[in-house]
Amino acid sequence: MGAGKDRPPGAMAASSSRSLAEVQRRVSAVHHGTDPEEQLRFYDGWAPDYEQDVTVLHYQAPQLAASCLASVFQGSIADALVLDVACGTGLVAQELQARGFCCFHGLDGSHGMLELARRKELYQELKQCMLGQEALPASSGFYDAVLIVGALSEGQVPTSVIPELLRVTKPGGFLCLTTRTNQSNLWYKSQMQQLLDDLEQRGLWEKVKVQEVKQWERATSEQEAQGGADYISGVIYLYRKTPSVSF
Ligand SMILES: C[S@@+](CC[C@H](N)C(=O)[O-])C[C@H]1O[C@@H](n2cnc3c(N)ncnc32)[C@H](O)[C@@H]1O
Repeated sequence: MGAGKDRPPGAMAASSSRSLAEVQRRVSAVHHGTDPEEQLRFYDGWAPDYEQDVTVLHYQAPQLAASCLASVFQGSIADALVLDVACGTGLVAQELQARGFCCFHGLDGSHGMLELARRKELYQELKQCMLGQEALPASSGFYDAVLIVGALSEGQVPTSVIPELLRVTKPGGFLCLTTRTNQSNLWYKSQMQQLLDDLEQRGLWEKVKVQEVKQWERATSEQEAQGGADYISGVIYLYRKTPSVSF
């Protein structure tokens, strides 16, 4: 594994005293399928260390997703109302704020994560929600942009949340979704891809951009570190809801 390697450009700058091995041990638990309640208890426990741990992993998804959305967003960024789904401690809103966005609502299943996000005082509204199991607590066509970053993967948020993301987006609004493309997540990724394509074929949204990222984050197990690579890969999808779709 790649302990001691330089951080790739754009990775979070916070320092951390935790070793890569410690973080790998902890994080590998999240990628193994457990029941949703157990998963959220894991996140409750991880919340206080989450940001320093993802720094050790060179996790770049929040800044990559924020840049991707900012590069295509049309209209006034300062007036845009953004829904950050699976917001965690608020890294995505932080990155969006650095790019001029300022109105955020957040959803997450973990009370521990939500409490950390609340302390950042970035979100006008934060709600607890079991994603994929219940409707999102939001009106249809409400948000100018909806993001879900670092949470669509095997053992985390099921793909059944995706039509809900589309429902709460304004006609003509943007959606940004990420997933990992490492071996253990390939089945999930192919299911997700089918659903994304199906929604496009039905004329509900159009693909704006797909950004493949080789160095998504450091691998958390030997199994994931295929071919001696220290990093696993990921992908960012950017869609625009069809302006004439009114749900
Ligand atoms: C890896 S973190 C990503 C957080 C943030 N988006 C980021 O990029 O830093 C995944 C988040 O998804 C939340 N989560 C995972 N499964 C969930 C579920 N089924 N329902 C609600 N939240 C869930 C966790 O509580 C956690 O905050």
